[in-house]
Amino acid sequence: MGSVKRVVAGGPVFGVALLLAAPPQAAARAAGSPISDEQVKARVEALLGQMTLEEKIGQLTQIGGGPFPPGGKPEETVRAGGAGSVLWVDNKRFNELQKVAVEESRLKVPLLFGLDVIHGYQTIFPAPLGMAASWDPAVEERAQAVAAKEARAAGVHWTFAPMVDIARDARWGRIMEGAGEDPYLGSAMAAAQVRGFQGPYLGAPDRVIACVKHFAAYGAAEGGRDYDSVYVPEGLLRNVYLPPFHAAVRAGVGSLMSAYMDLNDVPAVANRFLLRDVLRKEWGFQGFVVSDAIAVGNLLIQGFARDGRDAAERAFLAGLNMDMASGTFPQHLPGLVRDGRITVAQIDEAVRPLLAVKFRLGLFDQPYSDDARAREVLGAPEHRREARLAAQRSLVLLRNERGLLPLKKTLSSVAVIGPLADSKHGTEGGWMVFGHVPAAVTVREGIRGKLGDAARVEYAKGPDIKRDIPSFLDDILGGPPKSTETPAEAEVAFAEAVKTAQKAEVVVMVLGEESNMSGEAASRASLDLPGRQEELLKAVVATGKPVVLVLLAGRPLSINWAAANVPAILEAWQPGSEGGHAVADALFGDVNPGGKLPVTFPRSAGYSPFYYARNLTFQPEGSPMYRSRYWDGPTTPLFPFGYGLSYTTFSYANLQPELPQVKVGGRVGVSVDVTNRGSVAGDEVVQLYVHQKAGSASRPMRELKGFERVALKPGETKTVRFGLGPEELGYWSTSTGKWVQEAEAFDLWAGGDSTAPFHADLTVTP
Ligand code: BGC
Repeated sequence: MGSVKRVVAGGPVFGVALLLAAPPQAAARAAGSPISDEQVKARVEALLGQMTLEEKIGQLTQIGGGPFPPGGKPEETVRAGGAGSVLWVDNKRFNELQKVAVEESRLKVPLLFGLDVIHGYQTIFPAPLGMAASWDPAVEERAQAVAAKEARAAGVHWTFAPMVDIARDARWGRIMEGAGEDPYLGSAMAAAQVRGFQGPYLGAPDRVIACVKHFAAYGAAEGGRDYDSVYVPEGLLRNVYLPPFHAAVRAGVGSLMSAYMDLNDVPAVANRFLLRDVLRKEWGFQGFVVSDAIAVGNLLIQGFARDGRDAAERAFLAGLNMDMASGTFPQHLPGLVRDGRITVAQIDEAVRPLLAVKFRLGLFDQPYSDDARAREVLGAPEHRREARLAAQRSLVLLRNERGLLPLKKTLSSVAVIGPLADSKHGTEGGWMVFGHVPAAVTVREGIRGKLGDAARVEYAKGPDIKRDIPSFLDDILGGPPKSTETPAEAEVAFAEAVKTAQKAEVVVMVLGEESNMSGEAASRASLDLPGRQEELLKAVVATGKPVVLVLLAGRPLSINWAAANVPAILEAWQPGSEGGHAVADALFGDVNPGGKLPVTFPRSAGYSPFYYARNLTFQPEGSPMYRSRYWDGPTTPLFPFGYGLSYTTFSYANLQPELPQVKVGGRVGVSVDVTNRGSVAGDEVVQLYVHQKAGSASRPMRELKGFERVALKPGETKTVRFGLGPEELGYWSTSTGKWVQEAEAFDLWAGGDSTAPFHADLTVTP
């Protein structure tokens, strides 16, 4: 870089001292108050006026600070002004690197530290799919506020979250990182996470900048294979995949990450339609866009760019601000500017939001993190309480025959069995980078804590489970312990587990997937319980003991045998630090499970992609000719989207729109009564679905357009009200190539899942 001629963008060249002497109002900014847009603008322009071209391009460059990429020399790059941001640095290194930036670099521009804080920093919350199962955006907002507080105290400024990719194919491992299959629920969770991470304004104390990812349609990878191409027509893109991103932008998200893969043959990182036309022109996004890790460099491997220079030019001109760790921007942008392919004005435009965010975060005034503050905040008891509540609310009761659950606390013995029963990794879930130690309360520990000393809690692991092909992330992040179990040892473990079951009054089996079996680079060709788990489950059920199955997993699993033969099944996802406590709370009735599935459970991987909001066919489910559209299995799901039981039951009545007709552009209220018919208090997630019966394009047979989680005492009735307007009743029509709301007839359904039977009619009139 030293050989590149310095180009100073227009305006007088102020001295560094003048630059750092911020406008008086800004210097006086009180903690807890936002810096005004004018102040930000003035400071950005003053700083930009100081910068050489290389320094500007440095701001567009993010480097890896930790083990990724290996062999980097962060200090040297930072000292030379060659990096605006560093990702993946252990919190012990934050201040060291920051010191180099603010004391040793020419313009002393502070670094922005980015990290994947996906579901907690030290205190771990349920993984996002589990949080979505709570159908409780308020609890998700509080969870991410805690994550932000801990991360910020440790020195993180920017989280690469929320991940809002709609995922309708459970083979795709990253389904665990998002809110599932539905754009309406996904949008609510996306906005809640942005509010939680960022707080009332960008740069608020104890908060971080959020980064909504992966723009866009990454979840539609062909065959569910991570990173594979995506082919999504514009209607589907706009009606299904983009809404959660739009919701995040509307909630004020500060940044956005482009996805890795080809979208309709144009890689997302160089996709001008996405990054400029939709994001900036249509949505008016003012923040910045970072690539996914090394994605600009990947344009060569993907067969899109000729070379690094071509990759840098096309990604930059498509609208990318920051190159995450591929080194392509710093290597090629200076030459591209020199050769007139990119203008200095375009570089300035890309740098502005990056400098702005540093001013908003107050990094020029306070660049360092404070160890004492971190000690006070990380893992605080109130954070553990929030994590327990969030985990409780994420639990979904899938089956409960003859009221096996809740269990009695007077049990004299319980056998807790399975490879996940005492796995801290499996309980905590994926995406742990830095800042945490596997300290989750396991289900075994939770049950032990719940029962008095008189009760026997016996544990048997059973045979190990492991990935057939290990993950590269295990090497970087350290996954669950590597199994060295021999087949003979597995046999012994199997027999031991069955013997343990035989001695107990009740058996709780904790089965599913280890933390590294979902997430990035963790796609599967099967959705069955991995390893010998189902075989063990059958053997334990054959003992005749009452069996409760607790599932820990980052994706829906095709537990067909269990769904027919195990009397009680509780889906606990990856429940986080307090997972074992929350599960025990539900198993023993201190908490009544009230979560609902944010994804359809297919009967096998062969059903994928599988989701409820499909279009009707001329041979719908159950038609006389096609009783099922697979001859080797019903077309219905194992468990439908929105499904979940409770220790009580609910009934619905009086579903009605306020008026039977509404004009295009108008709004109409819809209400429904829900009653708790049982003898214990419980939560029901009341769901409203719509179907437009005809139009310029075919519409899905049902689409979620309203939900509310309500708490009901025994015998209590509540009236839940929803609103339907142009947003809920309109859509992007492939025939007309635009957003429309059409004067047509609609079906409305309300109930406790996506098969809700309670129906009303609504007509939209011209
Ligand atoms: C993932 C992103 C993540 C980034 C940085 C990538 O491999 O796709 O989701 O934010 O790494 O850790």
